[in-house]
Amino acid sequence: MCGIVGYIGDKEVTEVLIEGLSRLEYRGYDSSGIAVYDQGEVHVRKYKGRLSILADHLKEETLTGVVGIGHTRWATHGEPSDRNAHPHTNVSGNIAVIHNGIIENYMKIKEWLIEEKGIEFKSETDSEIIAHLVDHYYEGDLLKAVYKAIDKMEGAYAIGVICKDEPDKIVAVRKDSPLIVGLGEGENFIASDIPALLKYTRKMYLIENDEVVLLTKEGVTIFNELGQKMDREVFHVTWDAEAAEKEGYEHFMKKEIHEQPKGISETLLRRLDNEDNIVLDGIKITKEDLENINKIYIVACGTAYHAGLVGRYAIEKFAKIPVEVDVASEFRYRDPFVDDKTLFIAISQSGETLDTLAALREAKRKGARILSVVNVVGSSVARESDDVFYTWAGPEIAVASTKAYTTQLVAMYLIALHMATTKGVMDQAKYKEVIAELKTMPDKVKSMLENLNEIQFLADAQFNNESVFFMGRGVDVHVAHEGSLKLKEISYINSFAIAAGELKHGTIALIEDGTLVIALATQDHLYDKMLSNIQEVRARGAYVVGVAKEGNKEIEKTADVVLYVPETMDELTPILSVIPLQLVAYYISVARGCDVDKPKNLAKSVTVE
Ligand code: G6P
Repeated sequence: MCGIVGYIGDKEVTEVLIEGLSRLEYRGYDSSGIAVYDQGEVHVRKYKGRLSILADHLKEETLTGVVGIGHTRWATHGEPSDRNAHPHTNVSGNIAVIHNGIIENYMKIKEWLIEEKGIEFKSETDSEIIAHLVDHYYEGDLLKAVYKAIDKMEGAYAIGVICKDEPDKIVAVRKDSPLIVGLGEGENFIASDIPALLKYTRKMYLIENDEVVLLTKEGVTIFNELGQKMDREVFHVTWDAEAAEKEGYEHFMKKEIHEQPKGISETLLRRLDNEDNIVLDGIKITKEDLENINKIYIVACGTAYHAGLVGRYAIEKFAKIPVEVDVASEFRYRDPFVDDKTLFIAISQSGETLDTLAALREAKRKGARILSVVNVVGSSVARESDDVFYTWAGPEIAVASTKAYTTQLVAMYLIALHMATTKGVMDQAKYKEVIAELKTMPDKVKSMLENLNEIQFLADAQFNNESVFFMGRGVDVHVAHEGSLKLKEISYINSFAIAAGELKHGTIALIEDGTLVIALATQDHLYDKMLSNIQEVRARGAYVVGVAKEGNKEIEKTADVVLYVPETMDELTPILSVIPLQLVAYYISVARGCDVDKPKNLAKSVTVE
């Protein structure tokens, strides 16, 4: 992971770097650092801990300059520490490098640098080798030296390099890790992600894989891996920096939970014409294409994977096509049976998750058609897909995903309905019913967000639990998994999700007096069975919080507390039932004093394996 930023122009560079890094902390936040060229020298400042620690240091150890690079780290090789923080330098300190990704063959290069060149390494990182390699090849031309260095490197990297002897340039490279260039008047920027630069420019270049970029104050030149100049259209960012601000909410997560009605509505309504027909501009799958498809894989990681589970349910239910769902890190290594009759659906908020991207490439190589559901426009997953459905969640900053998930659900329902109607397997009445119901979702979610007292009360009473179980049946199980992930990632409570019918085959042994069980019972045809499962755990002492549709009062006799979601058709309950689970996780995290937006050990965009 990690976030990188670089600037060359007339502005005071430390301010630009700190501002940019502050927008990238979601990518990692265990240490940060900058390298600035000033008066004939490259000066580095880097510290373990949050960016604020670096910023505080810079108030005392002022650095001035107009060229520099900065980094916020999520440790992979070497613990979080001052010396493992980036930028890394060569022995003389002439060359400074920032890196996001992993250099897989770093050990071999490191051994060579130590044995052949007698270099003493200052850090335990893989990244430090880049500075020494560039130095090794440097003969007065930074661009050439970087080319030679990357030729030796395997793995994933977005890097930025500055050099004392060529203070009028930054060289940057992208290979499997995100990199964009920001274009200004007499100034230019690099960054891992768009929000880092929005304060300064909305004009960007999206850098492709294996491209090398040379930035000066006056211009930006993009080269391919062979060193040929590449043309690039300017990408104009239409959303504003405000969207990436907290706007009065205590946490990004809370703000993003509250933005769900808007995200759902945008994702949905932009795809419906006046007659409520689904119009998917980015998806060109025809009836013939669909007839040719005999298998669908949905592949994703984390929360997006959970959206994929609901997606399978929707596609099988509405479009009657068999679907397999897999986590990307498994799919890519299990030699799955994929051919030109396979449709591969990647779901990714960021569009940069390395495992998802690698799985996509593997499927593409084997001939599959690639459809992606992505939130970030122009991201790698989107660019490498044949068909794209953009969710309209807006920028999601909190590490724990909320609005991206609910918009992914809407996307999957629309894709399923689109397939069903294209194939002709859904009658018009049912189609109209589902669409009409989907259109009520923004208001229903909104109503749930207006009354939070009960959830806050529950969180205050239950935040000390050290283990929590989530259970459900049917599509509720998938939501149970998402609720459990939300809770564990931001509150560090050991939580576990299970199909309720499976409980008695082992896991029920863990239920004891006071164990918190969150039981989803939103499915009409499974309601009675869920009530029996609730009784089973209550009989063993569990404290049960039920999640049910309004009007289904029977559950009050068996559960200790019931959180109601508005009435809706069974197929669509996930959009609603996840809301109380997000809120329970949020308020428990707050009650436990955790860092809600930046949970320990996690990062939002996982661009390493
Ligand atoms: C990380 C994040 C999760 C996210 C997952 C997949 O683990 O912490 O919130 O669901 O990556 O990310 P993607 O950007 O591909 O949806």
